[in-house]
Amino acid sequence: MSRFLLPLLLLPAALCKDVLFGESGGIPTTSDLATAESNKALLEDLLASLSPGDSLTVENSTFIIQGGVHATGLADVTLRIEGTLKFFDDIDSWPLMDEPDPYIANRDVQEALHFTDFQSVTLTGGGTIDGSGLAWWGFPGIGYLIRKENRPRLMVMDDCKDITIEHILFKDSAYWTTLFNNVDGLVIRHSEVSARRPWDNHDGQHNLYDLSALNTDGFDVTGRNVHIHDCKIWNQDDCIAVKDNYKGGVSENMLFERIEASGMGLVIGSIGDTHVRNITFRDSVMKNTYKGVYMKFRDGTEGVIEDVTYENIRIENPSQWPIWIGPAQQAENETCAIMWPAHGKCEPAPNQFRNILLKNITVANPPRRGLGMREPMLGLVFGSEEKPVDGVVFEDVVFEGLRGGEEYYACKNVVEGTGVARGNTFPVPSCFTDETDSE
Ligand SMILES: *[C@@H]1O[C@H](CO)[C@@H](O)[C@H](O)[C@H]1NC(C)=O
Ligand SMILES: *[C@@H]1O[C@H](CO)[C@@H](O)[C@H](O)[C@H]1NC(C)=O
Ligand SMILES: *[C@@H]1O[C@H](CO)[C@@H](O)[C@H](O)[C@H]1NC(C)=O
Ligand SMILES: *[C@@H]1O[C@H](CO)[C@@H](O)[C@H](O)[C@H]1NC(C)=O
Repeated sequence: MSRFLLPLLLLPAALCKDVLFGESGGIPTTSDLATAESNKALLEDLLASLSPGDSLTVENSTFIIQGGVHATGLADVTLRIEGTLKFFDDIDSWPLMDEPDPYIANRDVQEALHFTDFQSVTLTGGGTIDGSGLAWWGFPGIGYLIRKENRPRLMVMDDCKDITIEHILFKDSAYWTTLFNNVDGLVIRHSEVSARRPWDNHDGQHNLYDLSALNTDGFDVTGRNVHIHDCKIWNQDDCIAVKDNYKGGVSENMLFERIEASGMGLVIGSIGDTHVRNITFRDSVMKNTYKGVYMKFRDGTEGVIEDVTYENIRIENPSQWPIWIGPAQQAENETCAIMWPAHGKCEPAPNQFRNILLKNITVANPPRRGLGMREPMLGLVFGSEEKPVDGVVFEDVVFEGLRGGEEYYACKNVVEGTGVARGNTFPVPSCFTDETDSE
């Protein structure tokens, strides 16, 4: 090789820069409004300055930062968080949106981090993004009544492509931890979501005190080609939720595996008028969770959830329904009473579940209710009258420690003959065909 060619080949690499946040003027430790605003302005400037091949490192210190950080159009860059980005906890100074949130009533706070049109961006580094959620959750039980859902998400990405997130702890989000809107290509691995109040006794249980940090969803995704694996989630709402694609497109081709989750479960929904297909959750465990397998329609008439597999999942000590395929159990729509099925009635909106497989699911110690807490709460399969569930197979779906004779709460509106129980499934939902080994 010519000795003139070698320096030329090295040139592109030499042009790439690694920007250091602290060295560029980021102020660690101090927590006041001026510092938080200054750190935010610097972070936005540095992000905007990155070219393909560059990286930005937040060094191993804690930087207090104001919310409403925006960045757009980054391509081929690495963001390395080695320390902590901690959002400033003064609610009154938090920036508001120009127009209120079109999807959630009375919500006008900006997100903590809001990124759009990123392509081939990696977020890594072993550090923490901390939402200072406690300030927003407020006094247990009362904070929610005051702020409702007008709280910032920790990180939102709109219309991004080929994103990798690894070795990041997402801590104490005020509201949903993350939302990937209309993503195409997302890998999240070796990362953690933790949303817990202080003085939590860390015994791995959720109680009412913990639940008052409501709406702290973990990874919420819409779009396609998503792989989330080897992550831990402990929060007070949906752990993972495949949601409506806000561009109206399909949410499809997603695999979630080796997740340790404890919260409202591994969720599809809540879904309105959109289409979700080809989603797999597998090889995961949910200990001391509220719910487990949870698929829910909110409202609408044209929604479809199809080609879904939950496989090799263990659910231990759930405190609510461990298996739920039906209408959303929340007050978003009047089609189902919030207390249903304990009280009130439910008429699911006319949406379609199709081709659902639950395979090798074990539920240990399901919750109980009723007189003397004798009646176990196993779950339900509840389609709509207009469009009954078309194809639902339970293979080796087993509840441990039942005395026999127990029933699912409801098995209703399933196309005749398309609900099938196989293998060691026990008990068999009443509207399924029993093809288990015991027959
Ligand atoms: C940051 O520093 C702490 C203590 O000094 C250390 O335990 C931790 O591993 C460091 N984190 C990274 C990502 O280097
Ligand atoms: C379903 O999604 C997986 C990714 O999770 C993908 O590999 C597979 O090709 C998809 N199948 C179909 C039929 O699109
Ligand atoms: C509830 O759902 C119905 C039908 O799907 C819809 O027309 C109505 O607007 C929804 N109501 C609310 C409060 O979202
Ligand atoms: C069933 O799922 C459990 C995890 O809950 C796993 O350990 C076991 O290997 C699975 N069994 C089969 C036959 O795949």
